[in-house]
Amino acid sequence: LEKVEVKPTGQSGYTIEIDRGNLKTIGETAKNSLSARAKRLLLISNQKVYGIYGKVVEKSLKSSGYKVLVWLMGEGEKYKSIKSVERALNFMCEEGLERTDAVVALGGGVVGDMAGFAAAIYLRGIPFIQVPTTLLAQIDSSVGGKTGVNTPTGKNLVGAFHQPQSVVIDIKTLETLPRREITAGLCEAVKHGAIGSRELFDLTFNFLKRREEADFIRLIASHCAFKASIVAGDERETIDRVDHRSRRILNFGHTVGHALEAITQYRRFRHGEAVGYGQIAAAEISNRMGLLSHSDLELVITAVNMTGKLPRADDLNVREIISLLKYDKKSVGGHIKWILLEEIGRARIVDGREIDPKIIRDSIRTSLNPGGVRAK
Ligand SMILES: NC(=O)c1ccc[n+]([C@@H]2O[C@H](COP(=O)([O-])OP(=O)(O)OC[C@H]3O[C@@H](n4cnc5c(N)ncnc54)[C@H](O)[C@@H]3O)[C@@H](O)[C@H]2O)c1
Repeated sequence: LEKVEVKPTGQSGYTIEIDRGNLKTIGETAKNSLSARAKRLLLISNQKVYGIYGKVVEKSLKSSGYKVLVWLMGEGEKYKSIKSVERALNFMCEEGLERTDAVVALGGGVVGDMAGFAAAIYLRGIPFIQVPTTLLAQIDSSVGGKTGVNTPTGKNLVGAFHQPQSVVIDIKTLETLPRREITAGLCEAVKHGAIGSRELFDLTFNFLKRREEADFIRLIASHCAFKASIVAGDERETIDRVDHRSRRILNFGHTVGHALEAITQYRRFRHGEAVGYGQIAAAEISNRMGLLSHSDLELVITAVNMTGKLPRADDLNVREIISLLKYDKKSVGGHIKWILLEEIGRARIVDGREIDPKIIRDSIRTSLNPGGVRAK
């Protein structure tokens, strides 16, 4: 068992509990983290995850004395929508859920973001517990308090900051997770290491080499601690912060990653896989600008390649990718802020206007074929 304490400024803290088989005792965790007045819990999940883990969770919650209601959303990113939130809220209203009751979000980032947002706005905010069941959700989306949904115009455009009462991570849930979802989560883990610290990068690298299931607990705990530390220092992603510890560094690899997702109509890559390529592109740019050593660049490429087999990207048009970069949601005043690396473990935010367009072009081209023959 590992525990990570998170303490957002000005708010009461919460615990992330990481273990094997702890879904069975989630009732006790709920008791310890919710108000004694909480009587009813709304379990939000999707059919697939609920089908595998719903009963265990329900049983434990009930044995701790809670009445459990269940509401299932559709499967997939397209259901992370205002329509789903509306339906969930209607259900909550009809059932008369009270301010002291709580939502339990059981699933990946899609369920967590949608359910967290519903909890954030129902009665102007009721407590919720995150039970992330994908690797990405366990190391990333369940930590930090960002909740929200997509609109037809773009991803995550509507949302709220709402911290959970607790996060319960059971690494047993990873046993049923499809291989690509593991790869996508590991790409995000490499990202944390690259921007976080040499120590976190090495820990992730060693995990990738050994792939011992038992090491998942330590891996996830370290990544949660890292994400929590960044978030604690910059909870709301201050727009004009450009230092190497601002929340914005978490977007390392996302500028090119988003463009790859968009150019393939969100059908080819899991988000993490696209971020894998995006990290290599950003590391290539860093190296060509003289910021990052060649050996650190190679380490980033090797780590991304070790996460698993990524869908091919070498058939995509570099010019088109570049034309999509400017739609990056994280641009400020129409200018792209690139998250680059000075070394493994230290990010640097650079205004796109300071980078030679040829460097960007060449770096993206090279990154799309990371296993190919590399020009020295
Ligand atoms: N809030 C944040 O800070 C934050 C950060 C990063 C990403 N996100 C969001 O997270 C979402 C992506 O999350 P995701 O990668 O977890 O995808 P996801 O929630 O779509 O889950 C991936 C797939 O795995 C299935 N699944 C989940 N757990 C399973 C299990 N244990 N066994 C078998 N199948 C399982 C899901 O039903 C789904 O089909 C995106 O919407 C993204 O915007 C949010």
